[in-house]
Amino acid sequence: MDIEGSVALVTGANRGLGRHFAEQLRDRGATVYAAARNPEAVDLAGVTPIALDVTDLDSIARAAEVTGDVTLLINNAGTLTGASLLSGPLADIRTEMETHYFGTLNVIRAFAPQLALSGDSAVLNVLSVLSWLSSPSMGAYSAAKSAEWSLTNALRQELAAQGTRVTSLHVGYMNTDMARGVDAPKSDPAAVARFALDGLAAGRAELLADEISHQVIAGLAGGVGALYPAFA
Ligand SMILES: NC(=O)c1ccc[n+]([C@@H]2O[C@H](COP(=O)([O-])OP(=O)(O)OC[C@H]3O[C@@H](n4cnc5c(N)ncnc54)[C@H](OP(=O)(O)O)[C@@H]3O)[C@@H](O)[C@H]2O)c1
Repeated sequence: MDIEGSVALVTGANRGLGRHFAEQLRDRGATVYAAARNPEAVDLAGVTPIALDVTDLDSIARAAEVTGDVTLLINNAGTLTGASLLSGPLADIRTEMETHYFGTLNVIRAFAPQLALSGDSAVLNVLSVLSWLSSPSMGAYSAAKSAEWSLTNALRQELAAQGTRVTSLHVGYMNTDMARGVDAPKSDPAAVARFALDGLAAGRAELLADEISHQVIAGLAGGVGALYPAFA
């Protein structure tokens, strides 16, 4: 897609990876709506802050109404509660699903009509290596990211009918607030945003941003034992 000529909306654009997306899109010449739960938290010049809570249908509808010309939608907003599926608060487990799965789904449904107006439109869903791999401390998050991966694959096919491309981005840990408590190698979110925008420009359907994403997707072919050796 032509990033320079695009009108992009990024969810969760006030910090982390989303802020890098908004900044780099602006620098590449796109018109940018920087969507955030609190638009006053958007500190970038040259973008249009817009209120959008992906778990609130009214908020999503209002954002779709005040834009109308979006050609590139980046579903980036995310939460990591760390809730255990067995013993964690159900409210946290629901928050993960409401944000990553229903949030992404509802935003895409609301913006699909305006994406259809353009001959060159795209959706980028920010997924994770944890869409394919789970652990006790990430169970709720991984289930939601898995569900988001599945909806991405379905909507890629459905939205093709209106000429909208859907791209999935998978990445391991990044150096943002979300992974602050994680002691593991982390990618630079600016580099991940650059890689994803290059992939979007090239029209790619799936983007694996780091080595761990390549390793884990390869491991899927080996069944449970390949990714969870204790259960081989
Ligand atoms: N960091 C990692 O290691 C990692 C790895 C793989 C994938 N990811 C994915 O990358 C994406 C960006 O994460 P990040 O690392 O940049 O996290 P982050 O620094 O914690 O930022 C999360 C962003 O999402 C926003 N957000 C949360 N709930 C929202 C809602 N209901 N409506 C609208 N915005 C909401 C936050 O807004 P507030 O400021 O209002 O809270 C914030 O802007 C997420 O989809 C995440 O799952 C992250």
